[in-house]
Amino acid sequence: MEKILNRTLHIAKSSKKDEFYTQLPDIENELQHYKEHFKNKVVFCNSDDPRNSNFFKYFAYNFENLGLKKIITIGYKNQEKNLFFQGESEKAVFLEYHSSIHDKKITNAEEMGIKNCTGNGDFRSKESIELLKKSDIVVTNPPFSLFREYVDQLVKYEKKFLIIGNINAITYKEIFKLIKENKVWLGINMGRGISGFIVPEDYKLFGTETRIDKNGNRIVATNNCLWLTNLDTLRRHEDIVLTKKYYGNERAYPKFDNYDAINVNKTQDIPMDYDGVIGVPITFLHKYNPEQFELIKFRKGNDEKDLSINGQCTYFRILIKNKRRSIF
Ligand SMILES: C[S@@+](CC[C@H](N)C(=O)[O-])C[C@H]1O[C@@H](n2cnc3c(N)ncnc32)[C@H](O)[C@@H]1O
Repeated sequence: MEKILNRTLHIAKSSKKDEFYTQLPDIENELQHYKEHFKNKVVFCNSDDPRNSNFFKYFAYNFENLGLKKIITIGYKNQEKNLFFQGESEKAVFLEYHSSIHDKKITNAEEMGIKNCTGNGDFRSKESIELLKKSDIVVTNPPFSLFREYVDQLVKYEKKFLIIGNINAITYKEIFKLIKENKVWLGINMGRGISGFIVPEDYKLFGTETRIDKNGNRIVATNNCLWLTNLDTLRRHEDIVLTKKYYGNERAYPKFDNYDAINVNKTQDIPMDYDGVIGVPITFLHKYNPEQFELIKFRKGNDEKDLSINGQCTYFRILIKNKRRSIF
């Protein structure tokens, strides 16, 4: 009995992490940088109940402004009108929102023509995949616990996407591989740039990172999320301005024991005059311009053990090389 109870608690705990809902201002803050990508496109939000998703709300509000062709949105299980209804019914709902709904200015979700799914709306289900195939760009905050699988599916179906994930996702080898191959990159906002998520009623709020907004929503500022995308942004074509020098300051840049590279603790300290490999923190990727730097390797030295300095492992490091090294 105790075992069953523990297991149930464990499932409840890990699934609760999936119930972080995105706020409209955070969606607006990010989406403003991608307007040109959406003209005449079908957008798919595939972990979003049309009756309560702020992603759907954003795209419906901006339907004309973005020049969208269609929005498809599908929830997971039946979340009814309550964000945190845990689904007594397994059946989800979906909606295909197009210009004739928009032109009639229908705002009531039911009147828009929501349909019942035959299944629970799992993004891996046949039904959801058929909707994915009809779409051009996927935009959502997917379930955190299934992030690898979720991205894998987007890549498999060659979809454009803009999604929220945990910063740790960069350290998953499958995700880092995509970043290294320049198939995926970080969006504009991350960490404090995402103001917080709406959490369920029973989620304990403590500390300064939590608040209740004017609509009574319980908000947690996690400071550990980012946007991941394969839509081009201006940011990734801007060089990081380098002001530091290696030669003359060698002691500030110790070498790793198990890789011929120097360590840098902050992106702004990358030296402009160093020709070899440099280990930088993962937050470097937020400013990464593939025309300026090359990504060499992640986390491990030549011996495939974690990078270390004098026997001590540093934080995760990404090994990079400056393509435009300059000596003044
Ligand atoms: C992090 S929440 C974000 C919800 C919504 N996309 C948003 O941004 O407000 C992830 C959502 O994915 C749903 N979910 C969990 N497992 C899923 C699955 N296998 N397929 C589709 N959605 C799933 C959860 O119920 C939850 O609503």
